[in-house]
Amino acid sequence: MAEQEIDVVVIGAGAAGMMAAATASQRGRGVALIDHSERLAEKIRISGGGRCNFTNTQTAADRYLSRNPHFCKSALAQYSQHDFLELVNRYQIAWHEKKLGQLFCDDSAQDIIDLLKAECDAGGTLWRMGTSIASVEQVAGGFTVRSSREHWRCQSLIIASGGLSIPPIGATGFGYDLARQFGLAIVPTAPALVPLTFDPKDLYGELAGVSLDCEARAENGPAFRENVLFTHKGVSGPAILQISSYWSPGETIALDLLPGRDARQLFEEAKRSDALLPNVLADWLPKRFAQAFCAALVDIRPMKQYRPAELEQVAARLHDWQVVPCGSQGYKKAEVTRGGVDTNALQSKTLAARNVPGLYFVGEVVDVTGWLGGYNFQWAWSSGWVAGSHA
Ligand code: FDA
Repeated sequence: MAEQEIDVVVIGAGAAGMMAAATASQRGRGVALIDHSERLAEKIRISGGGRCNFTNTQTAADRYLSRNPHFCKSALAQYSQHDFLELVNRYQIAWHEKKLGQLFCDDSAQDIIDLLKAECDAGGTLWRMGTSIASVEQVAGGFTVRSSREHWRCQSLIIASGGLSIPPIGATGFGYDLARQFGLAIVPTAPALVPLTFDPKDLYGELAGVSLDCEARAENGPAFRENVLFTHKGVSGPAILQISSYWSPGETIALDLLPGRDARQLFEEAKRSDALLPNVLADWLPKRFAQAFCAALVDIRPMKQYRPAELEQVAARLHDWQVVPCGSQGYKKAEVTRGGVDTNALQSKTLAARNVPGLYFVGEVVDVTGWLGGYNFQWAWSSGWVAGSHA
């Protein structure tokens, strides 16, 4: 196969790769965008329940996990949530804010895919979908990229192949392997924004399906007040997905099931009543949950029959239920992958590898992981734009 020359090859036509290709090609660079999948940007399509939570108005470095918490600042400042929103508005895509600064499409995530595709086309990006990579080698002045369709020789190579979550729609460890090939370190990866599983003995069978307001915390992370959803396997819902990114196997999580309220005061007021304990709690918690939760700790009796120590035990557990999850639901259910290409090996201002001229890593493959709420796409847009501006 004859070698063809091009300025930039981008591997991975997801969120970050399309942004990088659009930016580089609109600067006048010749760009080939390669993806092994036949379908474009499947993760955008399924994101945000089909409506793509495409950014967050509160985007700031403290919403990201990374070994170097300062690394993402430069890219987020160079291309911010306001820049992406301006692009969305230019395409007249209708959107709304749901909660906590989360911006979603009114209609469909396809609007975001169409926007990015149009931006790539505007720059004349060459599309190479359904194309697998056979090898990448460094040569004088750049790289050779051998694909199943052609051989490219390029000056710059942008790796935007994403993380490991949801393998059936195309996730692979390609980016990590390539980083290792070029001597870049990898921060150990793990599923993040993922439901956690409990040992059945820690989970009261009747809780499945219950959803409640909760403040959740992992040992080494901030507290998140959002909904928790009990499932047949453990816990899910936004509060749990958030803390899962900070959780490691063997660590305890703590749930306050009555945040901002005081179970002790409620019990004090009702301590002489004939009402059953779960019925008292049912003012504040779903009845089914109150019943199962209390029954796991004490016999169900009228309030006036409890000793103070028994009520204290229930109150303490409600405000600080400590559980050691037995695992997570893994990459099959994780929204993102934590860890990735070590930011120490990259320049924060360009996303270029420090020791390999012309090689860039963008998006989820980098050790920058956002909270739930549009932060991961914003990282994809910001990092893709920055690399596309320099490659
Ligand atoms: P992305 O995964 O988008 O793209 C990587 C591309 O590389 C893919 O097209 C893949 O086919 C390709 N590729 C992989 N290996 C390859 C190989 N060997 N050769 C060639 N190509 C290869 N985030 C958010 O901010 N708001 C949200 O609403 C959601 N919702 C959401 C829902 C669900 C179910 C998931 C799984 C994830 C989310 N996310 C999210 C996270 C978000 O989707 C994710 O962070 C970004 O898509 C990451 O963008 P990247 O471009 O880095 O990877």
